[in-house]
Amino acid sequence: MKRKKIVAGNWKMNMDLETAAAWLSKVGEEMEQANCDVILFPSFVLLPDMMDLYEGEKLTFGAQNCSQHEGGAYTGEVSASQLVSIGVDYVLIGHSERREHCGETNDMLQQKIKLALQEGLTPVFCCGEPLSVRNSGSQKEYVHKQLEESLFGFTAAQISEVIIAYEPIWAIGTGLNASPEQAQEMHLFIRSSIAAKYTDKIAAEMPLLYGGSCKPDNASAIFSCRDVDGGLIGGASLKADDFLKIVAQAN
Ligand code: PGA
Repeated sequence: MKRKKIVAGNWKMNMDLETAAAWLSKVGEEMEQANCDVILFPSFVLLPDMMDLYEGEKLTFGAQNCSQHEGGAYTGEVSASQLVSIGVDYVLIGHSERREHCGETNDMLQQKIKLALQEGLTPVFCCGEPLSVRNSGSQKEYVHKQLEESLFGFTAAQISEVIIAYEPIWAIGTGLNASPEQAQEMHLFIRSSIAAKYTDKIAAEMPLLYGGSCKPDNASAIFSCRDVDGGLIGGASLKADDFLKIVAQAN
């Protein structure tokens, strides 16, 4: 993977076909001017329509999750190969909301990443610590364990296809963002951990996104940190104007 600036919108369980189409008609037109890669993560049900409605080249699409199983009798699940069959390029793996509400463990996430890679989907692996861990000062150990248990079983060739999003849980949807210094410190730590486990080259080329209350008024300061390659945007991605303002700051 080539290191690049990326702004990704994680819509979570928001939007319906009408509001999503209205958002796309606004954002879609502006996309050709974007100086970064832009990925949109809508709900599964919206993906096919969004992909059909968008006529440009710039915006790419991802799913918010995939199953850890290849296929078969898993009611309500969506497999990596099904996503690929409709032209999806990316998949979020291990968002903290899925870890918390759906009981996703580091082991399960490793399995999901394996299947995603096998199918040619690019995993965006989410990691990050809760507030109690941040307050105790052990956030690096916590994140390292997440990387170790979900990522470090992969080969160098496989890991080169992964994007990591650092999302401190205390900053998600809370309005509290990590300061640029806090983001940079953790991103550097993640990059160094990848370098120590794999190679300097793989670490230097891996895109590392920041997520957690990233908004038009703080995006530029966060994106200008040396080891921050863009953002995974939740709440602020729902408003077309705010999302476009954030995209414009990732040059
Ligand atoms: P937020 O969410 O921007 O609303 O904090 C980020 C995320 O959960 O990906």
